[in-house]
Amino acid sequence: MKTWKIAALMLSVAAPGAAFATELEVTHWWTSGGEAAAVGELAKAFDASGDKWIDGAIAGSGGTARPIMISRITGGDPMGATQFNHGQQALELVQAGLMQDITDVAEANNWAEVIFPKSLLEACTVDGKVYCAPVNIHSPEWLWLSNKVYEDIGIPVPTNWDEFVASAPQVEAAGKIPLALGNQSWQSNLAFGALAIAIGGIDLWKEINVNKNMEAAAGPEMLKVFVAAADARKLAAKSTVQDWNQATNLVITDQAAGQIMGDWAQGEFQVAGEVAGKDYTCLPGMGVNEYISTGGDAFYFPLNADPEITAAQKRLAALLVSPEVQVAFNLKKGSLPIRGDVDLSAANDCMNKGLAILAKGNILPGGDMVWSPDVQTQLGDLQVEFWKSQDMTAEAAQAQYVAILSAGL
Ligand code: GAL
Repeated sequence: MKTWKIAALMLSVAAPGAAFATELEVTHWWTSGGEAAAVGELAKAFDASGDKWIDGAIAGSGGTARPIMISRITGGDPMGATQFNHGQQALELVQAGLMQDITDVAEANNWAEVIFPKSLLEACTVDGKVYCAPVNIHSPEWLWLSNKVYEDIGIPVPTNWDEFVASAPQVEAAGKIPLALGNQSWQSNLAFGALAIAIGGIDLWKEINVNKNMEAAAGPEMLKVFVAAADARKLAAKSTVQDWNQATNLVITDQAAGQIMGDWAQGEFQVAGEVAGKDYTCLPGMGVNEYISTGGDAFYFPLNADPEITAAQKRLAALLVSPEVQVAFNLKKGSLPIRGDVDLSAANDCMNKGLAILAKGNILPGGDMVWSPDVQTQLGDLQVEFWKSQDMTAEAAQAQYVAILSAGL
């Protein structure tokens, strides 16, 4: 047998992808039970393709992880791939020439056609080049409720934010916490953002965050949102946990009636064996304005001098967007897939609600798409002070809010 024939035979019997076998360290901040289950699906698929996923989970939250990720990249110790929320979080790294251009992967896999909504690919694109692979659509504006808390009190599970607030005295009288809220600043900012859409409405939200109208930010309609948040913080006064998933756990264990949190909370209910619609209820848009913002997670690939790493980075980018990985990952993550051509027959009640909203086109850009990381951090600092202090007035918080946004224009 001629040598080339033997070589061809060996290639054909080799495990799929075994010719590659490159190790890639992947950093992310997915450390809760649901998040770990979801990221495990990505690792499993990458390993099965013949390469090796070296997990670089960073505990804490995005706020803890991102500075570590950024300093490794700027400090010359790049990982193979890293999570960021797509939008502006990695913009400076891209502009500094520290990120791999993956436009060839995007073109070869037809991302411009398959990724929906298009804003997700746009958020990965800088000066016409693609720098990240979006993996999900995550929306923060959801209210999660324990059905048992309401069954025990003997009242119907609220169907919107107003009913939730009205039920709070009975929840408290039953010795439960009405609203679970973790202490990290981004969680207060998230709760405020959800209230802004529920109470202020979509038009006001767009006017401030997209059209950057600072008069609207300082106006009476926005003051109503701050007043609602000042009322809501009283409902969270007895919630002393730190992490978001500890707050979700208060709802899962029926110690708290509800939590305002992104749809990633679904992953926690799932690993706890809870059933959507039976054990817990999810209200997108807090049951008031059924809109979802289409932020989420994406993987970026820091520039690397080793061509084998670059090739593995591109293989991972293609894999993350592939239909099989999209289904396996998103079913565990609680997020929506970034493409419409996948089989979601296994979706639960909450995911179906999100999919219906997406199909209607009731979508908004994510906060990281419209404001810089600096503005987002300052807003988080303001909101955690406002939600946790109990005595900062709505007017004082609004004045600081306007100052932060105005400085970020
Ligand atoms: C977000 C991220 C989600 C979720 C959440 C809590 O920034 O987009 O995937 O994991 O943090 O960790």
